[in-house]
Amino acid sequence: MAVEFDGIPNNVNLSHDKKLQRALLEWQPNFLSWWNEMGPTDFNQDQIYLRTAVSVEAGGWAHFDYVKMPDYRWGIFLAPPEERTIGFGDNLGKAIWNEAPGELRKELRRIIVTQADTEPASVEQQRLLGHTAPSLYDLRNLFQVNVEEGRHLWAMVYLLHQFFGRDGREEAEDLLVRRSGNPDSPRILSTFNKPIEDWLSFFCFTMFTDRDGKYQLAALAESGFDPLARTTQFMLTEEAHHLFVGETGVGRVIERTAQLMKECKNGDVTLAGGIPLDIIQKYINEWYSSSLDLFGSEDSSNAAAYFATGLKGRFKETTSPRITDHVALEGAYEIEKIDASGKIDKQQIPLRRAMNLVLRDNYVEDCERAVLRWNKALEAHGHPDRVRLPSQRFNRTMGLYMNMPFTPDGTLLSAEEFAQRRAEFLPTEKDRAYVKSLMKKVYEPGKFAGWIAPPNKGINAQPVDFEYVKRSPAQT
Ligand SMILES: [Fe+2]
Ligand SMILES: [Fe+2]
Repeated sequence: MAVEFDGIPNNVNLSHDKKLQRALLEWQPNFLSWWNEMGPTDFNQDQIYLRTAVSVEAGGWAHFDYVKMPDYRWGIFLAPPEERTIGFGDNLGKAIWNEAPGELRKELRRIIVTQADTEPASVEQQRLLGHTAPSLYDLRNLFQVNVEEGRHLWAMVYLLHQFFGRDGREEAEDLLVRRSGNPDSPRILSTFNKPIEDWLSFFCFTMFTDRDGKYQLAALAESGFDPLARTTQFMLTEEAHHLFVGETGVGRVIERTAQLMKECKNGDVTLAGGIPLDIIQKYINEWYSSSLDLFGSEDSSNAAAYFATGLKGRFKETTSPRITDHVALEGAYEIEKIDASGKIDKQQIPLRRAMNLVLRDNYVEDCERAVLRWNKALEAHGHPDRVRLPSQRFNRTMGLYMNMPFTPDGTLLSAEEFAQRRAEFLPTEKDRAYVKSLMKKVYEPGKFAGWIAPPNKGINAQPVDFEYVKRSPAQT
């Protein structure tokens, strides 16, 4: 059951927990001043058709209504408790933890802080995009993503305050101090310091980077630390919409490009203000490769320890029929080492050490599914061109292929050759400038910018031309 305490909807018994109240009430004004400084505050007066989680029950987690963003009620929700035991690792079958176990406290805190840091980071990255939204439908989706990332920050800060004492409180404060892209106080993970200044980047981010989040959250939803498992389970229900925004967003850009390729002379879509397929491909190359880095090293003793201790499982560890051995002490996983001459050396590493890669492989499969769908649009319009995911070796700053000059198809070049051909693989300043030049706001209900196709359907069964954002007259 959800109740409200001082404007904080929650199902964590907040109104009866004085200590937690004090901590959160102290943190709340700092959160609001962070939101006012770093959130999409130029749109504070607009009425936005948002979904708000008011409880975790089926009818409660997606309550739709017009809300001004500063009035959005960021709540703390955990999925309902279940009878369960630890589902994997050395503690398989033992009782789950309702408190952070002393010997795992440091690791747990690090896992929570790293996840938590991405939530405000993405809001900061997307702060100004509203000014160039291609439609009211997209504007609304952007803000939905933003307020929910704000809620995810609340969810993780609750864990820090409730289970990690003074260290947790300090970490919660620091989450509001770091800033995306700030050289002195950057966000923890590099992808979350990259600027997002156009909507193609936003769609690639929600497609590829938020999708890394899905897999990280799903692995944590298996955790033996039950409050973390239940918090992340509920976050995943909201995250699904972010991924939808990304996947359909890139898909709609490709659809529009495919239409324009037929209409424009020599298929040159720039004649009609479309985004050329090769630029889309370069954006995919950039965001996909950067998001792969978020999984960490392929061979990782940390990953092995997280699995062994029961902190972080595999994707669908306890529900997938594909996973039968939850101890994972036997078995190996293949990795591919490549030396500077390009010689491939396939090696088997113990399964537990490969857990980052196992999770990443699930992610890659999911991305491939989306790419197949995008390519259907090209096929339907009769084009032989296809978009594709670059090789996992391409453009990596982490793990086995770190800083090695691979092409998107996985061929090793010399550093000089790579530098010469870089513009074929990754967006150039000129590409970015062109994409940016197309970013002009379209705020009329049912109208869409010329570089993107409308969606197939609206939000919450509303029509596509629904007024998803009622702009305040003072701000239009
Ligand atoms: Fe999130
Ligand atoms: Fe998200």
